[in-house]
Amino acid sequence: MKHIFQQGSNTSAPVLLLLHGTGGDENDLLPLAQMISPESSVLSVRGNVSENGMPRFFRRLAEGVFDKEDLEFRTKELADFLDDSAKEYGFDRKQIVAVGYSNGANIAASLLYHYEGVLKGAALHHPMVPSRDVTPPSLTGIPTFIGAGKQDPICRPEETKELASTLQTAGSDVELHWENTGHQLTTAEVKAASDWFKNNF
Ligand code: MLT
Repeated sequence: MKHIFQQGSNTSAPVLLLLHGTGGDENDLLPLAQMISPESSVLSVRGNVSENGMPRFFRRLAEGVFDKEDLEFRTKELADFLDDSAKEYGFDRKQIVAVGYSNGANIAASLLYHYEGVLKGAALHHPMVPSRDVTPPSLTGIPTFIGAGKQDPICRPEETKELASTLQTAGSDVELHWENTGHQLTTAEVKAASDWFKNNF
């Protein structure tokens, strides 16, 4: 997968996996890594799917309607890419914390839903429920942060709460952070994710 890897100054800090929103690329979330954990190594990935030229991590049939088959295929593809990257760049595979926004948060959530131990934690900015067909494996000891907007028309509050509850039931310690905003990612929300990161890792 197309990506950027930046070696951090502290090799024992978690590696940040950055996953952009629809139409973004691997450069978009680099400033978030600086705010969340400036000493961490960073693996920032571009989604392999193109929707009218806009990169995404998996196909959708319509706004908010995911192509289930492609989601499963792309989730495995990303999980395999993480295994390969850990070998290629020599970092600890068990030390990856995802930071995703929108479509990137959805593939991060899908990783958590499908593969036990795939991430050490995840900051999900404006995520949706990735699947209602699978029950996540144990997420005990895998903290998650959800940043949501009370007026988000894409990731509606009920869906945000459903995701939080499913992750919690699987054992994750979930921090749910609300902003009085829509789908956009605000500095205040990233600051909250940064505080969550410092409290958990
Ligand atoms: C998705 O397709 O992943 C969600 O609708 C979020 C987005 O607009 O990318």
